Amino acid sequence: MTTDVGRSEAPGGAVGWVETRLHLGPFLNALLHVPIPRNAKTFYLGGITLFLFGIQVVTGTLLALYYSPTPDAAYESVLSITSDVSFGWLIRSVHHWAANLMILFLALHVLRIFVQAAYKYPRELTWLVGGGLLLITIGFGFTGYLLPWDQRAYWATVVGTEIAGGVPVIGPALLLLLRGGAEVSEATLGRFFGIHVLVLPLLLAGLLGLHLLFVHQQGLANPKYPEPRPGRPAPARPPERLKPFFPDYILDEVIAWYAVLAALVILASLFPAGLEPKADPLVTPEHIKPEWYFLAVYQLLKVVPETVGVVAPVALVLVIVVLPLFDRGEEVLPRRRPIAIACAVLLLVALAVLTFYGAQV
Ligand code: HEM
Repeated sequence: MTTDVGRSEAPGGAVGWVETRLHLGPFLNALLHVPIPRNAKTFYLGGITLFLFGIQVVTGTLLALYYSPTPDAAYESVLSITSDVSFGWLIRSVHHWAANLMILFLALHVLRIFVQAAYKYPRELTWLVGGGLLLITIGFGFTGYLLPWDQRAYWATVVGTEIAGGVPVIGPALLLLLRGGAEVSEATLGRFFGIHVLVLPLLLAGLLGLHLLFVHQQGLANPKYPEPRPGRPAPARPPERLKPFFPDYILDEVIAWYAVLAALVILASLFPAGLEPKADPLVTPEHIKPEWYFLAVYQLLKVVPETVGVVAPVALVLVIVVLPLFDRGEEVLPRRRPIAIACAVLLLVALAVLTFYGAQV
């Protein structure tokens, strides 16, 4: 059935029944009928990140039905999800892989926006809210890692919370806040579970709503031309060629989501999420390794003094979050922003090298 959300007369059937009561037509019209520049290239990265968050909400809710957040029962409940619950292993593995892909696609989304300078006027606030989303997503990875309560989870959290404890001034208080005591214990597991399944999802959903509202209000950036600034003569440029957001852009987006879903199921089936022996606070494993996205920090800490290894990543994240406040030039083309692009290339090379060496045992 086709529905014309824009027409003034309500359509028949169920849609008409709802429309006569709620008058949603104009709202949906404003939401869906946004023209976007034909040469806006998002590579669907933000949308894919959004899709992966949706997958996490669904699979996470299913896992929470069977998971017990106490040191006595957590490990056994994960074992039981994997071997007793129908398709439990698949749901858990999809959750594991979608978490990794969400971080990967988020990083690519940020990189695309940086290269196209879409953080500049008027999108500074969209980027700042995005910074919050980035921190929350990293928080998801950090808190979720402990939940299986196996050796890897336990000891990576011991090391991770120790690193947080090294932050100047607030470190000791942060360590106590995260662990809920001096050691990683039942209190830590309870906190991480609450933060992972309640606090972070609510925060992410709220900020995501703001982020998408801003994107909707401003439209997508045109990577070829800077946005005309108020009070200054608009530079000459050819008229913008536009395409409809609905259905053209949405359809492409859904095809991308479908491909990501297929990749997820293949990855989850071929490489199911593993489980090490149950956590033992008295037996320190020989090698403690974090997830791939923390490997650079982990390696940095091995080669520089602890304070530098803790302060440098925190400072870097802060600089990235407030980037639009100090990079206020009007140029958007990468070849006209050689310093910004050179800094990004240097940073990426440093991260790749640190991650590579961090991955070696
Ligand atoms: C959970 C995390 C995030 C989700 C789901 C998300 C989603 C989206 C979506 C769907 C768009 C529309 C364009 C596109 O598909 O690329 C978008 C645009 C944008 N995002 Fe995000 N985003 C996230 C995090 C971030 C982060 C971390 C930043 C930067 C620090 C950021 C900055 C922006 C900006 C500046 C735009 C406007 C781009 C333009 O107009 O071309 N986002 N985001």
